Amino acid sequence: MTDDGEQHGGTPRDSEVVFARTMEITDSNALGKVHGGVVMRAVDSAAGTAAARHCGRVCVTAAIDGLSFLEPVDVGDILVVKARVNDVGRTSLEVGVRVEAESWRGGARRHTTSAYLLMVALDDDGRPAAVPPLRPETDADRRRREHARIRRELRTERLRRLKEHPAGPVGGDGQGERSEPAQT
Ligand SMILES: CC(C)(COP(=O)(O)OP(=O)(O)OC[C@H]1O[C@@H](n2cnc3c(N)ncnc32)[C@H](O)[C@@H]1OP(=O)(O)O)[C@@H](O)C(=O)NCCC(=O)NCCS
Repeated sequence: MTDDGEQHGGTPRDSEVVFARTMEITDSNALGKVHGGVVMRAVDSAAGTAAARHCGRVCVTAAIDGLSFLEPVDVGDILVVKARVNDVGRTSLEVGVRVEAESWRGGARRHTTSAYLLMVALDDDGRPAAVPPLRPETDADRRRREHARIRRELRTERLRRLKEHPAGPVGGDGQGERSEPAQT
């Protein structure tokens, strides 16, 4: 969003975030492997920054739709985190995050983690705010947007099915998980 409040659609490349951090002993468990929570924090931070870059607003994480740990990360590895907006709804955005690790000694980068985060843009009063459109510019951008829309459809279907058999996670009132609000 510009200073005068006008909304322009950005491309996924415009919102891309890439950062790197060396993993330290304090990031690890007793086996010298990096805690999943450390990687999740980096994923969340990258997604929040990419979403904020796209809409010029603070964005919060509403949900994580698919987080896969494909390979362990070692202390001393350099963690490279990339995030891009894949698709936008009315007030929400799906951000795709890819995490790679490389040894400080060199060698090939390993793809260690992938995740898709649903972020919601907030106005100054903390209420969901409309996000600018996304302008995909490459075939890969269009494929990612299509996949994001499939995930959205699958979430809706999953919640519909689960509502037929309410249970919910540990504790709670046993009435099932909170439904995702109506989709646009
Ligand atoms: C995210 C939050 C702002 C949504 O508020 P809400 O009152 O449910 O807002 P709405 O019903 O208007 O939904 C807003 C958008 O979020 C989406 N959304 C809300 N919950 C969602 C969920 N669980 N999964 C996917 N999308 C979700 C809606 O589909 C809607 O998208 P759209 O406008 O693009 O169609 C609110 O739940 C919140 O503040 N949660 C805590 C966020 C937080 O603190 N995150 C940090 C991690 S603890």
